Amino acid sequence: MARPVIVAIDGPAGAGKSTVSKILALRLGFTLVDTGAIYRCVALKARRMKVAFDDPAGLARVLHGLEVRFLMDEEKNHVFLDGADVSEEIRTPENSLAASQVSSRPVVRDGLLELQRRLALAAEQGAILEGRDIGTVVFPDADLKVFLFADPTIRAKRRYEELFQKGHEKPVGEVLAEQNRRDKEDSEREVAPLKPADDAVRIDSTQLPLSEVVHQIESLVEARRPR
Ligand code: DC
Repeated sequence: MARPVIVAIDGPAGAGKSTVSKILALRLGFTLVDTGAIYRCVALKARRMKVAFDDPAGLARVLHGLEVRFLMDEEKNHVFLDGADVSEEIRTPENSLAASQVSSRPVVRDGLLELQRRLALAAEQGAILEGRDIGTVVFPDADLKVFLFADPTIRAKRRYEELFQKGHEKPVGEVLAEQNRRDKEDSEREVAPLKPADDAVRIDSTQLPLSEVVHQIESLVEARRPR
């Protein structure tokens, strides 16, 4: 049986990956694998099990039997951890920080490779994987690799708006400082740092409406789809 079409969308937080990936998945009828949500689930489970983020043996226990599933409707991509919907809980500020910390651990990165690949390869037609290292590590042979980025100030403003919509108001300067810290951690870590794959198509969303980004990626996917 032919392998599903694999689309990797990597880039820093706030570049528009989640919005673009979700719309694309709905338009193309593809499965969406939000790999950041998987790291967030590991962080949440480690916190619940009171495992320290620098304890490799403890983290291995967290990963053992970890079950993450996605269920997408028109509104959002729901995330289930061991059978329970944790879509909101994984996105609190505490858990975001924890996710960034566990994601730098080799035991976690290695332990999640198989799950990420399995979720994508189970797709009927195609899968969109959004993350940081999809095109470089998880699927170096993806059919299409996109690196989506944007000016840090614009990204922080988008994040500020998103938090505001959810009722959390935080000065935009603070949002920018936190984002800079996460960008630094994600790009400077030793294992699988955030960087574009050599053969990735780079799209700068600073000046582009996200609908235009969707349109560009959709055309690239259509051009690579088997007929
Ligand atoms: O995309 P996100 O903000 O939901 O990701 C949560 C954390 O997981 C973030 O600190 C980066 C990390 N991450 C990663 O290291 N590799 C991925 N493929 C996806 C996310």
